[in-house]
Amino acid sequence: MNRRQILPGVEWLGAIDWNRKSFDALIPIPDGTSYNAYLIHGEQKTVLLDTADPTMRDVLMEQLSDIPRIDAIVAHHAEPDHSGLLPDVLALYPEAKVLCTPKAQGMLTDLLPIPPERIQPVQDGDLYDLGGRTLRFIHLPWVHWPETMGSFLVEDRILFSCDFFGSHLATSALFASADSRWLECAKLYYAQILMPYASIVRKDLDKVCSLDPLQIAPSHGPVIDQPERILHAYREWLDAPPRRLALVARVSMHGSTSVLADRMIAALIARGMDVQVFDLTAFAADRFAAALVDASALILAAPAVWNGPHPLALIAAALVNGLRPKLRRIANIGSYGWGSKALEGTPALFPGLKVEILPSVLCRGRPKPEDLAAIDQLADRLAVDA
Ligand code: FEO
Repeated sequence: MNRRQILPGVEWLGAIDWNRKSFDALIPIPDGTSYNAYLIHGEQKTVLLDTADPTMRDVLMEQLSDIPRIDAIVAHHAEPDHSGLLPDVLALYPEAKVLCTPKAQGMLTDLLPIPPERIQPVQDGDLYDLGGRTLRFIHLPWVHWPETMGSFLVEDRILFSCDFFGSHLATSALFASADSRWLECAKLYYAQILMPYASIVRKDLDKVCSLDPLQIAPSHGPVIDQPERILHAYREWLDAPPRRLALVARVSMHGSTSVLADRMIAALIARGMDVQVFDLTAFAADRFAAALVDASALILAAPAVWNGPHPLALIAAALVNGLRPKLRRIANIGSYGWGSKALEGTPALFPGLKVEILPSVLCRGRPKPEDLAAIDQLADRLAVDA
């Protein structure tokens, strides 16, 4: 994969990972991803922004093979998918310094064999003069690690945003407007990477909007050539109230919990709610995460196993806890064999979420008419002002 020109003197490099199937060994990324680096040529200096995942060492080294000098490498973020090849690049360019936030300095030396004297911390708003071009460093904490920053190329008004506004999308398109999957991938990315830190991301978004960038070049996915689209989408994802959308995450062993779940789905639809259903035995964690961005209600439908809820429900609950969505209400429904105690702890699966946990509907064995009536009443409460 060769370097590609964004503007004269501003190049994309890095790697497209067509084969990667998940990130953090947790959430599927069915469209692959990319690890973007950028090369900026000034009249006097050349700067490399980030590197790439260590698995792509040969690709990046080949792309740099005809670049005789690099004066500085900006490490926007210490996570190895962007910083992992810093030692290799530093070995190739002995004159180059690593520019990063003060917080990143210790993280980089903890994670990688980098001599501390080769790292030069930069403050928020500091400028780096390349000759005819200027980089301004923009600290962007918690998108999605505490040490993260971006860089703004002042004259060309390009924001290099690191993980902010990224998308896990392997595509031949250099620019986002040329790939119809991009915004959906960007939403999934937001859900799994940035939603947990929404309160701080909101401030980072304000900071970016004040720059009024013409292009946004993230560390994953294509370069965003219509920044207003992603800035508007982020505003919606962060601030819009949840929709009348209920997510039903369900698993059943012998059919009883299925009867409750089916009744709940029908009752919610009858009350004018949109419903998305997730089979926990084939859990699409990526679709589930993206749906959590908009949903107002979650119904966990799971039977008792051993002395607690079915373990597949615990995975979904852990995801909800970690991603911290805007949900308003959570309800648990399920059947048990010989004692309801196994399911009574289900509401405690959501510690720390600012969400209303509604009373559970639990039944012994096959649901009776009164259990189904209780489901209808629960649906009433889930649908109120959803
Ligand atoms: Fe793409 Fe947080 O690294």
